[in-house]
Order: sequence, then structure tokens, then C-alpha cells
Amino acid sequence: MVREWDPRTASSAEIASLLDTLNAVLAADLPQDPPWRESSMREYLAEVMPGERRISWVAQAEPGADGSPGAILGHVHVLLLGDIGVLEVLVHPAERRTGLGRDLVLTAARRVYQEGFQSIGVEVVGDTPAVAFYESLGFSKEYVETRSVLDLSGVDWAELSEMATGIGAGYHLEFHPGGPPDELIEAYARAKAEVRDVEDGELRPSSYDPQRLRDSLDCLHRRGMKPYIVLALHEQTGEVAGLTEVVVPVQHPTRADQYDTIVVQDHRGYGIDRAIKARMLMELRSAEAELTEVQTWNAQANEAMLKVNAELGYRPDREWCEYSIDVAELVHRLDAGR
Ligand SMILES: CC(C)(COP(=O)(O)OP(=O)(O)OC[C@H]1O[C@@H](n2cnc3c(N)ncnc32)[C@H](O)[C@@H]1OP(=O)(O)O)[C@@H](O)C(=O)NCCC(=O)NCCS
Repeated sequence: MVREWDPRTASSAEIASLLDTLNAVLAADLPQDPPWRESSMREYLAEVMPGERRISWVAQAEPGADGSPGAILGHVHVLLLGDIGVLEVLVHPAERRTGLGRDLVLTAARRVYQEGFQSIGVEVVGDTPAVAFYESLGFSKEYVETRSVLDLSGVDWAELSEMATGIGAGYHLEFHPGGPPDELIEAYARAKAEVRDVEDGELRPSSYDPQRLRDSLDCLHRRGMKPYIVLALHEQTGEVAGLTEVVVPVQHPTRADQYDTIVVQDHRGYGIDRAIKARMLMELRSAEAELTEVQTWNAQANEAMLKVNAELGYRPDREWCEYSIDVAELVHRLDAGR
């Protein structure tokens, strides 16, 4: 049975059951990834940026003979932003290939269509059943990135410390756990607006204006995802010449996510990229006791960024793709196949 589901009012048992399914999916599809924990799971599922909406549905097993609620065997949610709905679907490995995934997508797609949105996008992890699934539904591949993972136990900290200080004269680095301080928000947003080398999936909104940046940081905190920032400041102008952002989610604090790394065009060639990333790793090492890995996503064409990541010890892990489809076409196709 597929029904609309609101994580804000769901019972704790349902949240725990969804987490079990997520971890079963990870164990089946991405066995090297750390399992998720229950901390702030409800907030992770419920909280959104101002102006965005996330609508969720679950597929739940029948109640037990004693009246206990059935397990959550499948889940879909769609985040409505701009003119696109960003989809995420999970089906418990024991329930796959019965048409449940297709039903969940159809349920979400009908709503996205009714709400007047044009297209649906989804992140698809290479080498998992999701590739054949979305291709069978008619989605097409728009964009491919490579996820790389850095194992902190293999890092040469002495070398890293040298990298962190190997920056051109006239710049200094600052570390800001929690996000940039308010007096730097405007300069920070200007640097983000100039973004060229973005280490970020297209489906994640970037924050170019100060208010959107504040909202975005706020939203991360509410979802249990702690941002850390290292900035390179240009001493002469006070401008942010470079920045790197890492988020440590309370749901999987052993593996952090690298978000944007940006070096503003005029400040390229001074070793800023290498220095800010190296400094970040050193800071994280002392700030986050449980952290053992950092993962990052790069466009395959971004050779400069890939080179620095390789020097830091990142190893390519898998392809991470964006697929999309026109909503009307998807609904029509799925309805016709029923
Ligand atoms: C992708 C996923 C949702 C598919 O769910 P499902 O319930 O098994 O899908 P369906 O049964 O509706 O399959 C529909 C069609 O997709 C295709 N398909 C699905 N899984 C497939 C597989 N493993 N191999 C080949 N084709 C597949 C088939 O064409 C299938 O139709 P068929 O069974 O009649 O041949 C499920 O595997 C899943 O939850 N994956 C994890 C997704 C994810 O986001 N992971 C993130 C962390 S890894």
C-alpha cells in the first residue's frame, strides 16, 4: 500500500523502519558506505529551504496480527524547486523486482504533474540497479560526475600541513565551523556567484545571494548537517578569494561530504585550492573525532580539481549521474504500461 506520508508527524517506529530500509539498501548497493544513524533523521527528511517543498510517500507492509504497524518497505519523496521535481526512491532489497519502484515513481510523478512542474530529475549511482530502473522508465542521462573517497587513515599529515601553508603572499586562511561569520556573508556570496569550479551536483542548489546563503546554512543545521568552511581571504581587498565547504551529517558522522570548492578567477595560480582543502582536513581531524572518510563529487572534465584531489589522496569510487525526464511523458508512459 502506497500512501502519502509526512515525516514531521510520522511515529518514531516509522522513522526507525524507514532507516532500516535505507540501511538495507546501502548494504546491498553501496556496501562500502557507512550505515546511517537515527539522530535527526526526522529533521533530515522534513526540513527544507524557504520556497521549497518536499512531498513523501511510503509503501508499508500490512499491520502484524497483534496490531503492530507494518514495516516501511519503500519510500519516495520529491523536492519541488524551480520548475523541477527532484526524486528519491528506495525499495527494500527483499521487495525488489515486483513493480514497487515503478508504482512509487508513478505516484510521485502524478503529483509533480498536477503541481504544474515540467521535469523530474534524479541522482543515480553508477553500478547499482537504479541505472537499469530509470533507463527502463525512459529517463535520460544528463550529466556524469565521479565520486571520490578519501580515507583519512592513509593521509600523510606532515605533507598536508605543508600544503596548507603553501599559499601565495597576500592571502590568509580562516576556518569557520558552523558557516561563515555574518560580516563575511556578503563577500562569501560574491565568491560563490563567480563559481566556475563547483564540486557539487547540479541537483543541489547553490547559494549565490546573502539571504539564500543564510537560509541554506540554516537549513543544513536544522537537518543535522554541520557545515565547516575554510576561506582564503585576499588581504588587500578583504575579498573572499577561495572557499571550501565540508558538511558532517549527524546521520553518518564517520563520512563527511565535500560541498563547493571555489577559487575566484582573479586569484587562481596561488595554490589556494590545495591550501584550503589541506587546512580543512587538518581542522576536521581535530573537530570531528569520529570522522574517518571524506567524499567528494567532481565533473570528469574538471582536471585541475581532480589533480589536487588525487594529491590529497582521494580515490575515485563510482560514477554519480543525473537523469531527467519530462513529467508528462513519464506519467503517460507509466499509465500506458499499467
Ligand atoms: C531502483 C529501485 C528503486 C528499483 O525498485 P524495484 O521495486 O526493484 O523496481 P521495479 O520492480 O518497479 O522495476 C521496474 C523495472 O526497472 C528495471 N529494473 C529494476 N531493477 C533492475 C535490475 N536490478 N536489473 C535490471 N533491470 C532492473 C526492470 O525493467 C524492471 O521491470 P521488470 O522487473 O518488469 O523487468 C531499487 O532497486 C532501489 O531502491 N534502489 C536504490 C536506489 C537508491 O536511491 N539508492 C541510493 C543509495 S544506493
